[in-house]
Amino acid sequence: MGNKKTVGQRALFATKIGVIATTVGSAVGLGNIWRFPYEAGSNGGGAFMACYFMFIFIIGVPVICAEFIMGRGTRSNIFGAYRKLSPKGKWYVAGFMGILASVLILSFYSVVAGWILEYLIQSLTGSIKLADASANHVAFDEFSTSSFRPVIWTLSFLALNFLILINGVAKGIERMSNILMPMLFVLLVIFCINSLTLDKASEGLTFLFHPDFSKISPQVLLSAMGQAFFSLSLGLGCMTTYASYFGEGTKLGRTAMTTAILDTLVAILAGIIIFPAVFSFGFSPQAGPTLVFEVLPAVFNNLPGGVVWSSLFFLLLTLASLTSTISMSEISIAFMVEEWKLSRKVATIVNTLVAMFFGTLCALSFGVLSDVKIFGLTIFNLFDYASSNVLLPIGGMIASIFVGWVVDKRFVKSQMTGNGAYKSVLLPFVVFCLRYTAPAGIALVFLNSIGLI
Ligand code: PFF
Repeated sequence: MGNKKTVGQRALFATKIGVIATTVGSAVGLGNIWRFPYEAGSNGGGAFMACYFMFIFIIGVPVICAEFIMGRGTRSNIFGAYRKLSPKGKWYVAGFMGILASVLILSFYSVVAGWILEYLIQSLTGSIKLADASANHVAFDEFSTSSFRPVIWTLSFLALNFLILINGVAKGIERMSNILMPMLFVLLVIFCINSLTLDKASEGLTFLFHPDFSKISPQVLLSAMGQAFFSLSLGLGCMTTYASYFGEGTKLGRTAMTTAILDTLVAILAGIIIFPAVFSFGFSPQAGPTLVFEVLPAVFNNLPGGVVWSSLFFLLLTLASLTSTISMSEISIAFMVEEWKLSRKVATIVNTLVAMFFGTLCALSFGVLSDVKIFGLTIFNLFDYASSNVLLPIGGMIASIFVGWVVDKRFVKSQMTGNGAYKSVLLPFVVFCLRYTAPAGIALVFLNSIGLI
């Protein structure tokens, strides 16, 4: 891999900014801009937000650190990391769960990214109906429930993901994230300012930021926890795999904190864009997965030169989605390359074909397969629910117990302090949370959601 630093066979991220940009690149994506608003909207707004913040900082940040420690300390994929740190234990089973979760997420995520591609093309060709919110609503409904276009876009998105992956980790991702993330951020700030000028902006902000604690239910807690894991790309070994490419000088605590803060900031910006518009233009906050696709055109319509903004936005969102799907693909690719000794090319092909198969099923589950229900959920919703609300928190709980209780304390300390070269203010907090608050918190939310407490 050219002039990149290497450890063994592995290419490392070349620069400090590369580390932050790629980690944030993985975390920031459709989870912030598509999933966060619809989950917040369906789960009582402020009540959801309050729980979400709490989970990000008392569970999310410590678990990111746990994954970083495992990845950088072993220079392995998630499965190899567990096995290297506990050769005789059965902890590596959690690695398989992470790989399963990554495939489920890649499949349904690509469908939503496909919808973004459709909107991008509609914006570029000028056929997007910005001026008429209800016409756009009908058009989106027609599009998402049809068979052909959503599938084609899902497959096209996965093909794009494939092309980037095949070029290797350092080159493709690093270069792209460095430019993309700041641009997306600026665009979001502009849209926020625009939304704040809408007549019912204050209603939207109250909905999002004023917690009505009586609305906190087991379902709200579970959804907020699932969203925290999903948004931080946590609990499935993504951060472990990425950290395996970090240089020795990367400060893990600081990188974890920066990632959590920037990721949360983007979600808040998305909320400030969407909810004032929801109330001002008469949408329902509870629309579910289609919420932002209905509301955003109305937002763009309110800006002078709406089509230009929407083109730019959907382009950047496509790229932000790619930096996330690249990271989730990397979980199973690193696994297949390191454990099965497949070539990177073959591993990437396998990953893409599996996602194409399940992605097609997810895409069709809004239309011809909408009657196929498992546990009362469509395939798309099942993949989303099972990964975010079940697999990721379980993966996070295992990682926190593993790093908190099983892994040698000196190893944890040396990873967090660069082998004693600097102090980590976060270390005592992280260790405490990994031992107690994270596993107990996740267990309580689970038990609560199935009615046991
Ligand atoms: N965190 C990403 C987002 O918010 O869009 C989604 C994601 C990426 C989840 C990578 C899991 C993962 F491994």
